[in-house]
Amino acid sequence: MSIIVIFMSKFEESEWAEIEHAKEFVENADIYILERKRIFKILKSFYRFFLDNKIADRSVKILDLGCGNGALIREILSVSSKIEVTLVDGSSHMLDNARENFKSHGFHYINGTFQELLVKDAVTYKIAHDFDFIVSSLAIHHLSTEEKQELFHYIYNHLNPGGYFLNIETIKAPSDQLESWYRVLWSEWIAENEEEMKLREEWTDKESFVNLPEKYKNNPDNHPDKLSDQLKMLEIAGFKDVDCYYKQGIFSIFGGSK
Ligand SMILES: C[S@@+](CC[C@H](N)C(=O)[O-])C[C@H]1O[C@@H](n2cnc3c(N)ncnc32)[C@H](O)[C@@H]1O
Repeated sequence: MSIIVIFMSKFEESEWAEIEHAKEFVENADIYILERKRIFKILKSFYRFFLDNKIADRSVKILDLGCGNGALIREILSVSSKIEVTLVDGSSHMLDNARENFKSHGFHYINGTFQELLVKDAVTYKIAHDFDFIVSSLAIHHLSTEEKQELFHYIYNHLNPGGYFLNIETIKAPSDQLESWYRVLWSEWIAENEEEMKLREEWTDKESFVNLPEKYKNNPDNHPDKLSDQLKMLEIAGFKDVDCYYKQGIFSIFGGSK
């Protein structure tokens, strides 16, 4: 028997443990996350096609990993209110924000890191194993490659047969040259988006985010893996229908079914 030891990264040492960082993301994500509106449209199309009205006698059970203030669930709620949601985040500030946003919904909230879920779920969190849909957005790339593989197994084990996993994520490009161009592409998109926001008079006087892609590259909290490697990891975890559903530069949507 071989034993594999994984050295866990620490959420508490990442910038997401800082309230100011969380606040900045909530305030500005729509400005600098490439094609965020398009990505949400694809999420909703996926939900309508694969999940909405597919379960006759109960609500669709959804788990959002790294929920932030609940932006994904807000989008899904605009498609259907027949959902029962568990929201997980390492940041208690983010989770409080989500709680505030869904006051009337009776959702479940878990303040825990992915690293903690991987080792303490059965004893401490006891998260259900019968989700129909597990979603995550811009959170899993903070884990190491080994932790991602573990989390994909965890996600598979927490889905109902026939359930789906959809991950909105930044990925590592297959070469340094492509990675450099993808950052330029991202920066160009931010500049274009900021101009459009100014035209629509949605721009409050703030500094441009065009340098954010360079900062993303140099940020030690980011550990994106190649898309092809992550699709393989999903297959190793047992997922079927594994595919990339959308991609532009380093931003992608990928997942699979159980
Ligand atoms: C970029 S934000 C995305 C929030 C939300 N999913 C969205 O798209 O609006 C990343 C979120 O993941 C959470 N997060 C990052 N690393 C985490 C970890 N290791 N365990 C649990 N949550 C984590 C952060 O606290 C933050 O709320």
